[in-house]
Parts: sequence; C-alpha cells; structure tokens
Amino acid sequence: MRILSGIQPSGKLHLGNYLGAIQQHLDLQDKGEAYYFIADLHALTTVKDPRLLREHIRDVALDYLALGLDPARATFYRQADLPEVPELSWLLTTVTPMGLLERCHSYKDKIAKGLSPDHGLFAYPVLMAADILIVDANVVPVGRDQKQHVEVTRDIALKFNNLYGEVFVIPEDRILPEVGAVPGVDGQKMSKSYGNDIGIFLEGKALRERVMAIVTDSAPVEAPKNPDANNVFNLLKLFAAPEETAEWRERFTRGGVKYSECKKRLIALLDERFGPARERRRELASRPDDVQDVLREGARRARAVASATLARARRACGLD
Ligand code: ADP
Ligand code: TRP
Repeated sequence: MRILSGIQPSGKLHLGNYLGAIQQHLDLQDKGEAYYFIADLHALTTVKDPRLLREHIRDVALDYLALGLDPARATFYRQADLPEVPELSWLLTTVTPMGLLERCHSYKDKIAKGLSPDHGLFAYPVLMAADILIVDANVVPVGRDQKQHVEVTRDIALKFNNLYGEVFVIPEDRILPEVGAVPGVDGQKMSKSYGNDIGIFLEGKALRERVMAIVTDSAPVEAPKNPDANNVFNLLKLFAAPEETAEWRERFTRGGVKYSECKKRLIALLDERFGPARERRRELASRPDDVQDVLREGARRARAVASATLARARRACGLD
C-alpha cells in the first residue's frame, strides 16, 4: 500500500492539524510505504511573502520530524523539489472540466465572500491531483475538509485513464471519523485562518494564555452544564483517557466544575502529550543542515518514482 499526504506550510501547525492529519500520518508510517511532503507550491496561493514562506517551510519540517516522522520509514520532501509535479499538473488540467473545479469549496467560498480568486486557487485541486497521482498513491489520509479534493483527483484520474489507457492508480481518501472537526478557542472549527487555533508547540506562558482564552459561558460553578456544548470539555476529551473524560462528563452534568480547573487540566494534558516532541524540536532546530539533508534525500527518492509516472503519462498522451 502506498500512502501519500501533503501539509501546507501556511502557518504554525495547531491541534486540529495534529488530530485531523498529523497523527494519522505518523501511525500510517508502519502500515505501508508513506510519502509525506510540504505543499509549498500550494502555499503560494495564500502566502505571498518569501521570508514568511521560508520560515513556514522550516517550521513544518521541524514540527513533523519532532512529532515522530521517521525519514528511514517515510519519504519526506518538499513539493517544489519535484518539477515533475507541476508538469503532470498541466497534463491533468487538459482533461479537467471547468465545472468540476467550480464546484470545489475553497474556490466557491472565496467567490461567495465577494473576493476575486486567482487562477492558482482555482487550479489548486489539479495540482493536488498531480501530487497524489505522481507517486501512484493508493491511500490519502486527510482531514474531512480535503475529502472533496481527493474525489476530484479520482475523477481526473479516471478521465485520463479512459482517454489514454491505464496510466494512474485510483486513490482513496482515509478520514479519521472519531475526531471530526477539532474546535478552536471560540468553539468554531480550529483553523489558522480564523485565528482560533492552539499551536502544537506552544508551551509555558504562551500556552497558558491561549488555553485561558477558550470561550466559556458565565453560568455559576454549581449549575449543571451540558459538556457537549462546552469548548473546554470538547478539547479536553480529545487528549484525556476515556475514564477521565467520563469523569469530567459526569461532573459537568452534575454541576460544580470550575472552568479554570478544567483548563488547567487541559494544559497539563497538552504538556504531557507534547513535552517530548518540544524537546526534540529544539534539538533539531539546532541542526538545520541535517533537516535540509532529510528533505533532499526525500526528494531524491520521490523523484525516482515521480519521473517514471510522468514518463508513463507523457507517453500515453503522445508526448514521448
Ligand atoms: P487550517 O484550517 O488551519 O488552515 P489546513 O487547512 O492547513 O488548516 O489543514 C491541514 C490539515 O489538518 C488538513 O488535513 C485538515 O483537514 C486538518 N485540519 C485542520 N483543521 C482541523 C480541525 N479543526 N479539525 C480536524 N482536522 C483539521
Ligand atoms: N490541500 C491540502 C491541505 O490543505 C494539502 C495537500 C496538498 C495535500 N497536496 C496534497 C493533501 C495531496 C493530501 C494529498 O491540507
């Protein structure tokens, strides 16, 4: 089984990214041949500041390696180091119906907000299809919001195969159903773009401030509360053991929970969960050349596969 996923370097990674994507990626390293890449070409559709883009790319690489991506098991690379990807993307655009892209959420949302999208955003799903198809991926582990893009990839691959013969493997998505959308400090889906996120590598005072900013109501301590409507409980349950979650649920329902107590516990759970990764990240950050080497070696391995797929696609459509 070949597994592929990409992560956009468009800001610091947060708990939603971790539970919705990164954790699955790491678990899957043992289940097949994993390809993970930093989607820097995709990030250009939103990040237009070169210094910031470089910084984000470095951050994502450090984050993934610190959290447990093992370059001996998974191939880890930067999208922009594979020139085969944009070339394949062009071949794919020539079989992609406009209507298919017009139906994509990210594009539709921008139009609905009255903003004027650029062609990069419109063509974004085609580039994503190239990422996936170029390594013959069978499985694409992503968050629910990316499901549509994987469906578009399948449509494009089928169209190409119908026209030119069996060139591409048809991939499937893999969504972590239990997690769903991780809520942010305001209870909406956690997202960098909503400014409601909690960074994976926040610690100490910065983490405390962020957790204390989780929005709660002003119900008195003794009042019985619906745990499922509480932002702190909804985050805590994602990190606590099932028995502890059951206890908090009980206490919320009965009344008598102080939100600050629950927030403190959430901080302790995050410290426990991410403490070792924070240490590893600091250590890796002091060896930037080694991180570069990992990405270079990953690109070398990925290109070996990508160039074979591209050659197949070129041949199929008469470009050999
Ligand atoms: P953001 O919304 O912060 O910009 P991205 O769109 O870059 O995050 O998401 C990167 C990955 O993390 C995707 O696979 C996405 O589905 C997952 N993800 C992001 N936010 C959440 C969330 N709140 N809950 C679950 N998964 C999420
Ligand atoms: N669009 C994805 C996201 O925003 C990132 C991505 C780019 C990706 N190419 C991909 C994910 C290919 C999976 C497969 O999260």
